[in-house]
Amino acid sequence: MKILAIDTSCDETSTAVTEGTQILSNIVWSQASQHAKFGGVMPALAQRLHEERIDWTINEALKRARVSKKDIGAIAVTAGPGLAIALGVGIAKAKEMAEGLKVPIIGVNHIEGHLLSPLAQPATSPPFPLKNFGEGEMKRVRWPALGLVISGGHTELILIKKIGEYQILAKTADDALGEALDKAARMLGLGYPGGAILEKMAREGNPKAYPLPLPMARQGENYWSYSGLKTAMFRLVQKTGIDLNKQQICYLAASFQNRAFQHLERVMVNTIEKNEPDSEILVGGGVAANMELRRRLRKLGRKTGLKIRFPYSVKLCGDNAGMIGVAAGWGTLKTGRTVDRRPRWRVDEV
Ligand code: KG4
Ligand code: ZN
Repeated sequence: MKILAIDTSCDETSTAVTEGTQILSNIVWSQASQHAKFGGVMPALAQRLHEERIDWTINEALKRARVSKKDIGAIAVTAGPGLAIALGVGIAKAKEMAEGLKVPIIGVNHIEGHLLSPLAQPATSPPFPLKNFGEGEMKRVRWPALGLVISGGHTELILIKKIGEYQILAKTADDALGEALDKAARMLGLGYPGGAILEKMAREGNPKAYPLPLPMARQGENYWSYSGLKTAMFRLVQKTGIDLNKQQICYLAASFQNRAFQHLERVMVNTIEKNEPDSEILVGGGVAANMELRRRLRKLGRKTGLKIRFPYSVKLCGDNAGMIGVAAGWGTLKTGRTVDRRPRWRVDEV
């Protein structure tokens, strides 16, 4: 069954067409540059831009997937978590389409989308017969598995007992990892959102050049905390000077990123040791695009004996409707219930 999926949870207007785990098209129209001058996402602006752009992304997704509206068997839409008024745009459009086409509507949890994004497949991957593709991929994952969601809004290590049954093992007490990277980037004058540019700068920097504390991760504690590191970074940047040169920016970026990732790894190892899962870790969310982090997580995987699986393309790390369609197509087909926005919907309540 082909699903048309919509995500308007934050500042990306996105529509995709999926079938099982396959992504037939995935259109993402980012609003990031419009929000950049405010240094963060402005909800009312996000809502207006979603309204202006949603129809275009729907038409484009259908066109790229080479399907017409009558081929669509269900509409999936992100119901939460996210910005309430932004979510509302996608939900209203999804309802309108589901009624018009007389097909079911499926409300999807955005974090579940990120969580399952590493299991998505491109449309034309051989050698599996298209029909059985999703099933084949699923059989290769042994449940329970772990999922790490690292984005601008979330940092969660999740036990996936099976698809649709989740337990949060570790989470952040304050900032999300992506949020912390964005704030550090802003201190360095790198703009918003700054995770990707911070990574680029850090590549040319020495992570040991500046002293930054490693946030505490006492044995047995299962939460991250980035606020102390952020404050230390603020003081360090102030001390270093007002007109930072390129080398200073690169060194500071490398130092911050190094500590942020070390902290991520510490809490992960603590939690893994306590739970002793034996299959793999699925890694999703915007920060999963970071190549230095991927290298470190692969190393962590070798140490703990866990396979690490990332989404097949960087586009699937950031917000996109493809992952929402894949989550909707898999087990969690909870149709029939009314879809209302749920801005604070937790992944363990799906
Ligand atoms: O998943 P996402 O697009 O939106 C949320 O659901 O939050 O994640 C956005 C976050 C931002 O904080 C952004 O700076 C970060 O992902 N990000 C990165 C990279 N690309 C995006 N962080 C580190 N390295 C990157 N290459
Ligand atoms: Zn997201």
